[in-house]
Amino acid sequence: MIVPYTIAVAGKGGTGKTTISSLLVRALIGLGKAPVLAVDADPNANFHEALGVEVRENLGGMREDAFTKSIPAGMTRTEYIRFRFYQVLVEDDGFDLIAMGRPEGTGCYCFANDLLKTCMRLLERDYQFIIIDSEAGMEHISRGTIGIPDLLLIVSDPGARGLRTASRIIDIALDLGIDRSAMHLVFNRYKSGVAPAGVFEDAPLAVVPYDPAVEAADLAATPVSLVPEGSPAREAVKEMAIKLIEFADKKEKERVK
Ligand SMILES: Nc1ncnc2c1ncn2[C@@H]1O[C@H](COP(=O)(O)OP(=O)(O)OP(=O)(O)O)[C@@H](O)[C@H]1O
Ligand SMILES: [Mg+2]
Repeated sequence: MIVPYTIAVAGKGGTGKTTISSLLVRALIGLGKAPVLAVDADPNANFHEALGVEVRENLGGMREDAFTKSIPAGMTRTEYIRFRFYQVLVEDDGFDLIAMGRPEGTGCYCFANDLLKTCMRLLERDYQFIIIDSEAGMEHISRGTIGIPDLLLIVSDPGARGLRTASRIIDIALDLGIDRSAMHLVFNRYKSGVAPAGVFEDAPLAVVPYDPAVEAADLAATPVSLVPEGSPAREAVKEMAIKLIEFADKKEKERVK
C-alpha cells in the first residue's frame, strides 16, 4: 500500500494557487506519478475548471446524507459511505478529483473528523500524491477535515506586501502544527529578470514567471493546466514537481527504514 505524499497549496487570494495546483497535478502525471488525487479545499471551488473536469457534488453535501440520513435497506453505513464517495469522486486520466465544499455544517462528524482520510481509506486507491488547492485561511486544515499535509506550498507575489502575507500564512500554519521545514515559498507571476532576494530568509522553491499562455487560457475559459508544453509557467512548475518528487522519495525512504 502506497502512502501518498500530501501537498497543500496556500496563499493570499488571487496569487495563483489554483493555477499552480493544476499545473502541478499535470506535471506529476507527466513525470510518471499517476494516479494523483486533486482535492479542492476552496469553497469557491474552481480546481476542476483548471483541470478541465466537471464536478457533480462535493464531499460536504454528501457527508450530510451519509452521516445523518437513514441508509438504504440492506446496506451498512460504511458501504453506503463508500458508495457515496464514489459518486463524489471525479475520475479522469491520471488523476481523480474531490471537491470538499464548505467546511462547516451540522450533523455528527465523529466518524468524519478526518474526512479525507476516511474517504481515502474507503477508496482503496494507491495515490502517489495528493494535491490540495486550499483557500487563503486554510479552513479545511484548521478544522481537521483534511489532515496535516506533508508539505505546504505558499504561493506569493514576489513583492514585499505579498511576502508579509506569506509570513502571516506561515504563522497560521505553525499554529496548525505544520512543521516550518515543511513550508516552502513559491513566487508566481514573476516578471522581472532579477531573483527576488533579501525580503525573506527562505529561498523560494520555485519562481513561476508571468505566462501569457496562462492569461490566454483564463480569457478563453479553457483549462489552464493544459497550456502548451514549453509555456514558462508549465515548465517552472515541472521543475518544482521534480524537487517535490525528491522530497516525497526521501520521506518514503525514512518511512520504510
Ligand atoms: N503565472 C501566471 N501568469 C499569468 N497569469 C497568471 C499566472 N498565475 C495566475 N495567473 C492568473 O491570475 C489569476 C488568479 O489565479 P488563480 O485563480 O490561480 O489564483 P488563486 O490564488 O487560486 O485565486 P483564489 O484566491 O481566487 O482562489 C487568474 O486569472 C490566473 O489566470
Ligand atoms: Mg483558487
